[in-house]
Amino acid sequence: MAFLAGVLTLLLTTATILTTRHHHTIPLSSTLSLLILTPLALADCECGYLSTIGELLPNSHAPSHQQHHALFTDLIESDFTKLVPEGEGEATISANTDWVRQAFNLSDQRARGKYGEMFAVENVDAAGKEEEDRGLKLVVRGSVIEDMVPVAEIDTRRLDMYWGTFRASMKMTKERGTCSAFFWYFNDTQEIDMEFLSKDFDKSNNSYPVNLVLQSREAVLNGYDSAATSNFVKAYLPFDPTEGFHEYRIDYLPGRVYFYVDGGLLGKIEGEAVPSSAGHLILQHWSNGNGLWSGGPPGRDAGLVVRYVKAYFNSSREERQRDWENRCRYPGVEGAVCMVPDVLPTNGTAGEWFFMERGNMTNNQTVWRSEGGRGEGRKRLSGWVVLGVVVWFML
Ligand SMILES: *[C@@H]1O[C@H](CO)[C@@H](O)[C@H](O)[C@H]1NC(C)=O
Ligand SMILES: *[C@@H]1O[C@H](CO)[C@@H](O)[C@H](O)[C@H]1NC(C)=O
Ligand SMILES: *[C@@H]1O[C@H](CO)[C@@H](O)[C@H](O)[C@H]1NC(C)=O
Ligand SMILES: *[C@@H]1O[C@H](CO)[C@@H](O)[C@H](O)[C@H]1NC(C)=O
Ligand SMILES: *[C@@H]1O[C@H](CO)[C@@H](O)[C@H](O)[C@H]1NC(C)=O
Ligand SMILES: *[C@@H]1O[C@H](CO)[C@@H](O)[C@H](O)[C@H]1NC(C)=O
Ligand SMILES: *[C@@H]1O[C@H](CO)[C@@H](O)[C@H](O)[C@H]1NC(C)=O
Repeated sequence: MAFLAGVLTLLLTTATILTTRHHHTIPLSSTLSLLILTPLALADCECGYLSTIGELLPNSHAPSHQQHHALFTDLIESDFTKLVPEGEGEATISANTDWVRQAFNLSDQRARGKYGEMFAVENVDAAGKEEEDRGLKLVVRGSVIEDMVPVAEIDTRRLDMYWGTFRASMKMTKERGTCSAFFWYFNDTQEIDMEFLSKDFDKSNNSYPVNLVLQSREAVLNGYDSAATSNFVKAYLPFDPTEGFHEYRIDYLPGRVYFYVDGGLLGKIEGEAVPSSAGHLILQHWSNGNGLWSGGPPGRDAGLVVRYVKAYFNSSREERQRDWENRCRYPGVEGAVCMVPDVLPTNGTAGEWFFMERGNMTNNQTVWRSEGGRGEGRKRLSGWVVLGVVVWFML
């Protein structure tokens, strides 16, 4: 069935391409293809990904609830549980084409802390195989080197994320004195942050705060009173984030930003401070000894483990926008638009869901494959094209 659908999809693609090329000089074949194909789904998700957005997700008990949706054209999905440590196979983080580990040093002055920070690639690696916590581990070291705390950062390679819904499954460190951050970034005044300070977690009164911040942490540090402004929300998690994985989510939309945990809304920020540029995603784990924020550095190595990141977004690049326009011919056809499943407070199943694992997804989406996988993908594609052309000629 999938085979047949694939053949028919390619047939239509071929017909479409030829039709476009010849300026509709072969209407018969394209009409024929359309007739045959209309009842069937085309390649899945070619018109994009529809996500819930907004105040209330479907599980909400609130009466006057308005469910909003937004369509996004592009995706990056990273299942970090499949990673192997550097040197132990192909699926290493350094071979990942969507993410780039960062290396740079900050003096204590630049870092605005008691210590500087040394971002080094070896602090970002697969969590060891023997650990039950599979995923990507970002480590803050327990030993200071040349007045710098060894810390960790990894960024998406793509910088063109305009609006989007960004989701990361993470487990925080139990070591006190670090800041774990999941954020969208353009520059120091166009930034959307979720920051977790491990020193602020308190089991005795079940207090697990998360800082939701627009703009930089410097703004927060410079006269901590931005905590009183509308660009900063201190929210509390309904669980201990060091005990298990939870999905932290940022929705970045024109004029507003929503923050969630496990699909439950944590906060919303609107207004002037909401960014308007395209940017990228960053995972960071750091410490600089500043008692007003990260505290620390920790007494021993502290690990933030990230199980996955899923980003559904629009691209600021004209090329990508054109790609979408070209492939999204029949938005009304079933399967052309895919609904992004949500993790909910009562149901975490969607965390296991990756569009990239579906064999028949639309081509040319940016998802990670090992170099070998990429070659295979191309070979399989050209096979389909040949088949499609053959069938087209038969018709
Ligand atoms: C794609 O695969 C999924 C299952 O993985 C299936 O539900 C869907 O119908 C398939 N779509 C097409 C076009 O074959
Ligand atoms: C994303 O781009 C698509 C295609 O241009 C558009 O239909 C959609 O509304 C955009 N999404 C947002 C949130 O602007
Ligand atoms: C950071 O500082 C350390 C220690 O001096 C040095 O070994 C390393 O090369 C520096 N990293 C960068 C990216 O400059
Ligand atoms: C960040 O980018 C915005 C939009 O381009 C610009 O107005 C602002 O001055 C920039 N901020 C910094 C700190 O460079
Ligand atoms: C929990 O206790 C800590 C330490 O006494 C305190 O700083 C924090 O504000 C308390 N949290 C709540 C929610 O009461
Ligand atoms: C795939 O994307 C690239 C980059 O945007 C574009 O140049 C190319 O034409 C696309 N290919 C297909 C088959 O859509
Ligand atoms: C849990 O979520 C998954 C994925 O969104 C969905 O398919 C499933 O039906 C949900 N289960 C229940 C009991 O609601």
